[in-house]
Amino acid sequence: MTPSVVTIVIFFVFLGVVSLLVVWYFFHVVSMLRGAPYVESKKKNIEFAKAVLANQKKIADIGSGDGSVLLALAETTRAELHGYEINPLLVLYTKWRIKRAGLASRVFVHWQDIWSQNFHSFDGIYVYMLPSFLGRLSSKLKTKLPPQALIVSACFPFRDQKPLHATESAFLYTIEK
Ligand SMILES: C[S@@+](CC[C@H](N)C(=O)[O-])C[C@H]1O[C@@H](n2cnc3c(N)ncnc32)[C@H](O)[C@@H]1O
Repeated sequence: MTPSVVTIVIFFVFLGVVSLLVVWYFFHVVSMLRGAPYVESKKKNIEFAKAVLANQKKIADIGSGDGSVLLALAETTRAELHGYEINPLLVLYTKWRIKRAGLASRVFVHWQDIWSQNFHSFDGIYVYMLPSFLGRLSSKLKTKLPPQALIVSACFPFRDQKPLHATESAFLYTIEK
């Protein structure tokens, strides 16, 4: 008995969905071990970042998830915006969102691990990572960023630095050398 075209199509759709789920789950575990799992920022933290980073020239979202922070920042700043994301499915989705919004000339997303990056050319950073990674990140940023740089940490504070300004769930820092 030969399988019908419908059966073959169903098989490949099923295979595609299972493959996507396997890739998603794999990178979900990788991201937890390398910084934080994907959780979208609260709207109030994005609004805070939009206000305090409005005059920066080049901003990175470290662990950019689905690109929501990048797209929101693009509304209020003329900065060049870069997202760094370890999950390739989120990178593809963000690329599609950037293109759809017509922002491809100044908003970029990179499939890269933040720990292999040097952020020295950025004067604005947005980060939403697990507290256990923030000490290492703070040390890295202190040595790499220019003195005028501003950093927003969403939800969790840097334990080794005093914030310039804080709300109940977002913290603003400058570089203390
Ligand atoms: C808590 S989510 C924040 C997403 C987005 N920034 C937001 O605020 O809506 C953290 C993101 O960082 C990514 N991530 C975790 N570790 C990473 C690493 N070492 N390099 C790049 N991205 C990483 C995760 O895949 C996840 O999408």
